[in-house]
Amino acid sequence: MATLAFATEQHPAPTPPERRAAVLQDPGFGRVFTDHMVAIRYREGKGWHDAKITARVAIPMDPAAAVLHYSQQIFEGLKAYRTADGGAVMFRPEANARRFQKSAERLAMPMLPEDAFVTACDELVKIDRDWIPEGDGSLYLRPVMFASEVFLGVKPSSEYLFLVIASPVGSYFKSGASAVSVWVSQDVNRAGPGGTGAAKCGGNYAASLLAQEVAYKHGCEQVVFLDAVEHRYIEELGGMNIFFVFADGSMQTPPIGDTILDGITRNSIIAVAKETGVTVREQPYAFSQWREDAASGRLRESFACGTAAVLTPISTVKFDGGSFMIGNGASSAQTEKLRTTLVDIQRCRAPDPHGWVHRVFS
Ligand code: PLP
Ligand code: COI
Repeated sequence: MATLAFATEQHPAPTPPERRAAVLQDPGFGRVFTDHMVAIRYREGKGWHDAKITARVAIPMDPAAAVLHYSQQIFEGLKAYRTADGGAVMFRPEANARRFQKSAERLAMPMLPEDAFVTACDELVKIDRDWIPEGDGSLYLRPVMFASEVFLGVKPSSEYLFLVIASPVGSYFKSGASAVSVWVSQDVNRAGPGGTGAAKCGGNYAASLLAQEVAYKHGCEQVVFLDAVEHRYIEELGGMNIFFVFADGSMQTPPIGDTILDGITRNSIIAVAKETGVTVREQPYAFSQWREDAASGRLRESFACGTAAVLTPISTVKFDGGSFMIGNGASSAQTEKLRTTLVDIQRCRAPDPHGWVHRVFS
């Protein structure tokens, strides 16, 4: 397919600089948005077309648009960082593009070419470059695609809209990410074998919300989902992968299958840890074992990881019938080093031996 050409329509009345500066002081997560967005349309027989960067506006939606009824929808999440030299980079956007293609395949949607996905993100970061926060903040990019055909028959849509919006963000967690507590859901499942758990589709998150509500009621920030068949093995959190770190320094994380999102942060952490001589096992870990190991001291820490969460220690685990603490609830020096190495690569402060960093502009 020929490379898509992007037309640019500047926002007629962009946010005044002083208002933008005020917002960037403490953006939170996902509540404020930049001035522009990218849009690309797809129609069966025509393919991808009408790629443009425009003002971020509400999108007119027919009440019979397929996505509103059957949830044929996928999304991604990645960050752009401001660099010390005044430029901007993104972390492994090609990996997000490929995962987006895999999600599309699972949801019977057309695959957006990798270069169109990355260019769309590049163009949005360039046009809204003044929105990238300084310091620890970043510009969170949210590509999304949904079925836009106006039809109530249950079938893959013949029309889609792909969008990218951007949101300046600080920490995902209100607590500022020092540590989080988690609720283990022993009844509500997120994903089952043969389902959509490995795809980044909105439906998985919708399925997680009931358990998330229960978690909030118990004072927990995230839900730990167990395997849907036996309710025995730990899979992942509602929006993050999970790692366990043992007293001998080794690490373990549930293996990727069709019920877990193949996290790019997870994958990067495994690579960086292995390079520094840490043993990493991708093996199932039972909830009962987690409790036992936390009590015996065999387990030193557990942490959540993802684009939004980066690497956040888990301090307390609650479940129907009890709770337990993990170590001292903080990261060890080994995990802190891992976190720093990853963040320094992401922000262009350390060498990038894997070629993970994608330069948007200098
Ligand atoms: N698992 C789920 C369910 C997620 O939503 C995310 C976040 O994107 C992750 C894991 C971590 O993935 P990544 O590291 O690619 O952001
Ligand atoms: C991300 O980390 O990018 C996510 O998508 C997790 C959550 C905010 C949905």
